[in-house]
Amino acid sequence: MSTPPPRPGILDIAPYIGGLSELPDIDKVIKLSSNESALGPSPAAKEAYLDVADHLHRYPDSSASELRNAIAREYGIESEKIICGNGSDELISLLVSAYAGPGDEVLYSRHGFLVYPIAAYAAGATPVEAPEKNLKTDIDAILNAVSEKTRVVLIANPNNPTGSYLDNDEMERLANGLPERTLLVIDAAYAEYVTAGDYTAGDGLAATRNNVVMTRTFSKIHGLSALRLGWAYGPAGVIDVLNRTRGPFNVSAAAQAAGIAAISDSAFTARARADNETWRQWTADQLNGLGLTVHPSVANFLLVGFPLEPARCAAAADAFLKQNGIIVRRVDNYGLADCLRISIGTEEEMQALVKALTRFMSAA
Ligand SMILES: Cc1ncc(COP(=O)(O)O)c(C=O)c1O
Repeated sequence: MSTPPPRPGILDIAPYIGGLSELPDIDKVIKLSSNESALGPSPAAKEAYLDVADHLHRYPDSSASELRNAIAREYGIESEKIICGNGSDELISLLVSAYAGPGDEVLYSRHGFLVYPIAAYAAGATPVEAPEKNLKTDIDAILNAVSEKTRVVLIANPNNPTGSYLDNDEMERLANGLPERTLLVIDAAYAEYVTAGDYTAGDGLAATRNNVVMTRTFSKIHGLSALRLGWAYGPAGVIDVLNRTRGPFNVSAAAQAAGIAAISDSAFTARARADNETWRQWTADQLNGLGLTVHPSVANFLLVGFPLEPARCAAAADAFLKQNGIIVRRVDNYGLADCLRISIGTEEEMQALVKALTRFMSAA
């Protein structure tokens, strides 16, 4: 007996597969496969999370008002134009399904985040990829790919898995070039890591344009991936649409409490950013020294190109690292089979990675 057929498009979805976290026969792995925080969450966030244990029989605040106020204070933006979600993935999916459906197109860059085609197919819309230049979003290619049917454009800035970013002028040129009927979603999941002076996360555009929304997450620099917490900021009309389509209690009480503490601990966030910068640069230098191609990254991971010869290729490096208890990410499903994506971990983890790759590259 077969099950009832889902809507067209659903079975075209290649399910998202998260980074591995365990290896057979290895007790203590080094996990550098999901761009999680090297430092974990702020101690204040852990404490706030534990305090929720006494109130587990109560529903959470359905409008996450205290959390929205804390975010608004931190960034100097209006809390009424913020919505919180069960990870930014939820908000991206809600945006795509509210603004695009059968017959509509959802546009993103060739190496854009894999959740974008999933969200498009799930909405019954058609995913469209624009080509990139040098592993970076190409504004002209995106604008050329816009058609009458384009309802949503999704840009990760910085982008995962390439680590490249669009500066303020480039993002503004993109926003200026899009028709009013098309929603631009700036997915700034890694924004807090970026120290480049010509970058902003997109809050300025989201504050002033009717068709721009920015999404953010607590999964990266704030170290709260397990709790699933993200937020979006944009025009009141777009936030209203999301509030109508989200689940009434989409953000748990634990996530709200930990999120408030995390975003208020700016000293911890600054330390996480500074550590990331130090170990990203150190790792990039070391891997360049081994003759590997390290693509420039402003985020908490590096995209690293390996030689094509079978003994030194990305697949062989991945297998070797796994044998040594280190999990990184294959990116074949992004069309980057010659690369591995390596998250930036602690000093100890980065030293172990470099040591292992040095052995791999020098083996006869
Ligand atoms: C570019 C990008 N956007 C969004 C997300 C999703 O984050 P969240 O954990 O908030 O759903 C990720 C997670 O890896 C990401 O890389």
